[in-house]
Amino acid sequence: MGYKVAILGATGAVGREMLKYLEEVNFPVDDIKLLASKRSAGKIMEFKGEKIKVEEVKEDSFKNVDIALFSAGASRSKEWAPIAVKSGAIVIDNSSAFRMDKDVPLVVPEVNEEDLKWHKGIIANPNCSTIQMVVALKPIYDLSRIKKVIVSTYQAVSGAGLNAIKELVDQTEFVIDIYKAYKDKLEDFKYIPYKNLPYAKEVLKPKKIPRQIAFNCVPHIDIFMDQNYTKEEWKMVKETKKIMHDEEISVCATCVRVPVFIGHSESIYIETEKALSLEEIYKALENAPGVKLYKDPTTYPTPVDVEGENKVLIGRIRKDLDNDKAYTMWVVGDNLRKGAAQNAVQIAESLIKLGLI
Ligand SMILES: NC(=O)c1ccc[n+]([C@@H]2O[C@H](COP(=O)([O-])OP(=O)(O)OC[C@H]3O[C@@H](n4cnc5c(N)ncnc54)[C@H](OP(=O)(O)O)[C@@H]3O)[C@@H](O)[C@H]2O)c1
Repeated sequence: MGYKVAILGATGAVGREMLKYLEEVNFPVDDIKLLASKRSAGKIMEFKGEKIKVEEVKEDSFKNVDIALFSAGASRSKEWAPIAVKSGAIVIDNSSAFRMDKDVPLVVPEVNEEDLKWHKGIIANPNCSTIQMVVALKPIYDLSRIKKVIVSTYQAVSGAGLNAIKELVDQTEFVIDIYKAYKDKLEDFKYIPYKNLPYAKEVLKPKKIPRQIAFNCVPHIDIFMDQNYTKEEWKMVKETKKIMHDEEISVCATCVRVPVFIGHSESIYIETEKALSLEEIYKALENAPGVKLYKDPTTYPTPVDVEGENKVLIGRIRKDLDNDKAYTMWVVGDNLRKGAAQNAVQIAESLIKLGLI
């Protein structure tokens, strides 16, 4: 017996990955419906060798659907999730629309699978940077409560959708073409004034990313909010408390977009209540679900290593030199997979496992 699955946002960066992941894990799909906006209606996509036409989402799209995977942005989730639930589907939503709603569980199966038991039709998938962080924190938290987390992220452009990938490609092509002319004249390599070229303004104009992203780092993801933190940073603060069931855990985040296509990296500093040895931390992470540990300190994961990988990769674990109860580590995850599509499908798998569907 399989399930009738719908993907809203099937043509996007996350939606495409969902389709791929459902196929890869051989999720028991009886029937699949691919939904998007009018723009993509009629496009053909493939699932298990079968060609499937994308449909425009409509009032009756969720009729007979068991599981609706949403990845079409928060306003579309707010509009369509109540309709899907009313039609009898369980919605697993990738957007920020319902994450902090007290009636909606926010779930990373490796961390708080049990929260699925109190869902009322909608389950939220956390933000990509939060997911990979809590997968890394939970095994350590189980050894000793974590009091404080200071995290700096290095986030890939695919986290901002397909158009952001195009933006990085276009800008990189433009800048690299100019630099190529200087390849053999390294003495002139510094300060090439490409930004003053007449067409630079157009190509380098920020669209999905608020500043030039090619050959740059941008400490601004989503909009600015209270106390000079961005919304992405607030998501990491609030979502971590909700997932870990610990309102007292202190989280301070700085989120930065970097010119990487896929894979978010995070430098995470934590303070625990009890002092832990590195050996205890290694052992906990080695045995943790969804984690691949790079124990040898000279080996470490990078975004290139995590593309298409289902596990969260952790390396560079060190103790603070002055604080026996503090540690730092480097955590890398595929934002489209564990950060989005994979986590959503894992939630669906957990619902089946727990007999909740
Ligand atoms: N990218 C990530 O790493 C990541 C991680 C976690 C969560 N998320 C969340 O997942 C969602 C999708 O992100 P994405 O990166 O996949 O974005 P994306 O590549 O821009 O794709 C957006 C998708 O939404 C659809 N859509 C847009 N407007 C629509 C409308 N009015 N009605 C129906 N469908 C509509 C698009 O369909 P058309 O083809 O018709 O335009 C497309 O399928 C967002 O809420 C995002 O915050 C993304």
